[in-house]
Formats: sequence, structure tokens, C-alpha cells
Amino acid sequence: MPLLRVRGFEIHKNCLSQGKQQEIVEALRPVLKAAPLFSPTVPSGGQMSVRMTSAGKFGWFSDASGYRYAETHPRGQIWPDIPAPILTLWETLVSPERPPECCLVNYYGETARMGMHQDKDEADFSFPVLSISLGDDALFRIGNPTRGGKTESIWLNSGDVVVMGGEARLAYHGVDRIRFKSSRLLPKGGRINLTLRVVT
Ligand code: SIN
Ligand code: MN
Repeated sequence: MPLLRVRGFEIHKNCLSQGKQQEIVEALRPVLKAAPLFSPTVPSGGQMSVRMTSAGKFGWFSDASGYRYAETHPRGQIWPDIPAPILTLWETLVSPERPPECCLVNYYGETARMGMHQDKDEADFSFPVLSISLGDDALFRIGNPTRGGKTESIWLNSGDVVVMGGEARLAYHGVDRIRFKSSRLLPKGGRINLTLRVVT
């Protein structure tokens, strides 16, 4: 399980076995059923190309009034619990003491991308954000604590896990593109990225 460090981002390449990846995908099925993916509107008016949902006490989304966490899905129901195999990963790689309060599920279809941004809607930045990649490869871009400047790009493959803590916690990052159908984990192709966050 090689560990790569780029500007404070700890990239655990190939952290999850094929079996573990499948177990997590299976565990996500009831989550997606209870809390279907939706395409959030960004405050400036357009729609995100990524489709998303969440598990946990809080879910993250955006609409015309801004980016934020909410205790309910846009359709009104509370979010489903974070599945056990995902919590176990957090306990192992981040903290056995404090569980994450949000598991954001991002689904990237063939043309989805995510612009450079900071994860800064949480009230507590002392815990890292844990990111789990499943399915198609993604070109992940790592920036700086302020917008702009030199960036570095790395490919994230299915089973890679990234710990974004310390200097990486508030660093800009984004996804330029995915390599559609590069993985066979998800039957219809695409990529799922899970990010686990302490929110309050
Ligand atoms: C995110 O920043 O929320 C997603 C990162 C990723 O898809 O790898
Ligand atoms: Mn992010």
C-alpha cells in the first residue's frame, strides 16, 4: 500500500482490495435508494456536473442560497446512516474517537468534473477529510491554500484513499476529468468519490 505525499495530501494508492471496493459499493446501494442522487444548483445559477447525495447526520449540498450542510435530503427525508465498512476505514485511517458526521457521495458520469474549491463549510477543521475513490480513474488537481498558483495533478484510481489534513485541509483541489469506463467496478461506468467529514 504505497503512500504518496503531495503538499500535505496523503495518497494511499491501492488502499482497498477489489473485495473491499465491492463491499463498499454494495453497502452504498441502500444509501442511494433511500437518498437518491441529485444535481445541485450552484449559487451562481448553473448546475453541477457531478450528481450527489449524502449519508450521516448531515449532508452537503448547494442551491440558490449557497453551499451548506443540511440535516435532510432536498426531498425532505433524513440522510441514511454511514455504512459500517466506510466508518471502519475512518477509524483506521483518521480517528477511532470521533466519527465523521457526513459522508458525501459524488457520482461522476462521463463528462463530469469538479472545479477547484476548498472544503470549508465545516465548523471544525482539526479533523482531516477522508476521500475514497471507486470506479473510473480521475485526474485530481492539487492547489494551494489560496486560489491560483501552481498546481500538481495526479490520477486517482479505484481503491485509492486520500487523507486531506494539516496543510492540505484547506487547500484548493478539484477533478479535471475522468477516464470513462477505465474501471469495471461500477456496472454502468463512472466514478464514485466518498468524502467523510467532521462537520460541527
Ligand atoms: C471533492 O472534493 O468533494 C471530491 C474530490 C474527488 O472527487 O476526488
Ligand atoms: Mn472537496
